[in-house]
Amino acid sequence: MKIAMVGSGYVGLVSGACFADFGHDVVCIDKDQSKIDRLHDGIMPIYEPGLAELVGSNVAAGRLTFTTSLAEGIKGADAIFIAVGTPSRRGDGHADLSFVYAVAEEIGANLANDAVVVTKSTVPVGTGDEVERILKDSGTTHKFSVVSNPEFLREGAAIGDFKRPDRIVIGAEDEFGREVMSAVYRPLFLNESPILFTGRRTSELIKYAANAFLATKITFINEIADLCEKVGANVQDVSRGIGMDNRIGSKFLHAGPGYGGSCFPKDTLALLKTAEDYDSPTRIVEAVVKVNESRKRAMGRKVLDALGGADKARGKKVALLGLTFKPNTDDMRDSPAIAVAQTLTDAGAEVAAYDPEGMELARPLMPDVAMVDDPYAAIEGADVVAIVTEWDVFRALDLKRVKDLAKAPVLVDLRNIYRPDDMRAAGFEYTSIGRG
Ligand SMILES: NC(=O)c1ccc[n+]([C@@H]2O[C@H](COP(=O)([O-])OP(=O)(O)OC[C@H]3O[C@@H](n4cnc5c(N)ncnc54)[C@H](O)[C@@H]3O)[C@@H](O)[C@H]2O)c1
Repeated sequence: MKIAMVGSGYVGLVSGACFADFGHDVVCIDKDQSKIDRLHDGIMPIYEPGLAELVGSNVAAGRLTFTTSLAEGIKGADAIFIAVGTPSRRGDGHADLSFVYAVAEEIGANLANDAVVVTKSTVPVGTGDEVERILKDSGTTHKFSVVSNPEFLREGAAIGDFKRPDRIVIGAEDEFGREVMSAVYRPLFLNESPILFTGRRTSELIKYAANAFLATKITFINEIADLCEKVGANVQDVSRGIGMDNRIGSKFLHAGPGYGGSCFPKDTLALLKTAEDYDSPTRIVEAVVKVNESRKRAMGRKVLDALGGADKARGKKVALLGLTFKPNTDDMRDSPAIAVAQTLTDAGAEVAAYDPEGMELARPLMPDVAMVDDPYAAIEGADVVAIVTEWDVFRALDLKRVKDLAKAPVLVDLRNIYRPDDMRAAGFEYTSIGRG
């Protein structure tokens, strides 16, 4: 099969490379010339474990190519995926669909054969209908079908998630769409990955419902963590105690600084807007969004407390370890670290930060933070060391070296990666999340 992937970002590039690895003939298209140039030079425009090798081997096998020309890239394609960004629209929080619709217009103007057009971007209910209208209005004489196929991969584990998904959701309204999508995912049928065929609108809503549910789970345990702090309970044990119940499940029950990233913040907001438009409020999600938003700065205040309070922060030095919204990605979109750093610099603290992959993208987002080349350089002279993202490198810090380098042995662990007893035994003043 020939597949065209329009948009070669976190989702498009991973999906394109995985489809090529299944044996399909894939063209990844992006309007960003520098991205395509880098890919032609074998340089990955994003950090994702295993991606460089996967792209390299499929390029070498002649199954994966890159272009900036949509007209060229979609020629002969059986399936044309739209995997461009759908960020929050400035001002009102609706999903900004301008990139999706621009691609639909361009496909309509250049379609040279029958094809299925697949929305892989996360898009609100009804977007597929609009894409279909745009294609119809383009006057194309070729047969087409518009299908929804939301993506559930997690950054940092994207290749494994794509190749061994919990499920594949396909929202199609006709047999042509279902047939082509079955052929696209046939290699995964053989892996016995479950495929759920639904209507297009249902499929669009499944993606938002899934993300809103996961965001709710995280936010729920974060509030329970706050309660644990007040009553002297341990949130990690509470998580285990409830997560062992199969009806609840243990995933997404890790208390922390609040969810961030490229999906949950914008997708929960977009779901609220859809609910508002259809006069069907989703009050639980409204609460989740509010609670999570206020949590990020509250985490900054937690670090200030370790400094002795906001009024004592001026001129004090804080080391931030980890900036990305989670480990194993360079993605800084809506990372809680941004609000934490802002809270600290607002109070006059001097912040030095280290992140294994995120510093390049973090720099413009936190201009008052000094980025340094390794964790110990950040720790040197620090009044407080705060772990914001649970990269493996921070799980095995040389605690003696930390104590020697820091001005004071004060550690705020916003990810609960150390054990309070161990840290206190090692002579640290230690604060974590929800563990008494
Ligand atoms: N990042 C994730 O973990 C993830 C997971 C599931 C779903 N999604 C969804 O997938 C979609 C893409 O997300 P992403 O993180 O890959 O975004 P991204 O910003 O990393 O990539 C989007 C790419 O599309 C390109 N693009 C924009 N307009 C274009 C056009 N007209 N023609 C060609 N290329 C164009 C951009 O240059 C960019 O490279 C979003 O809707 C997102 O919500 C993301």
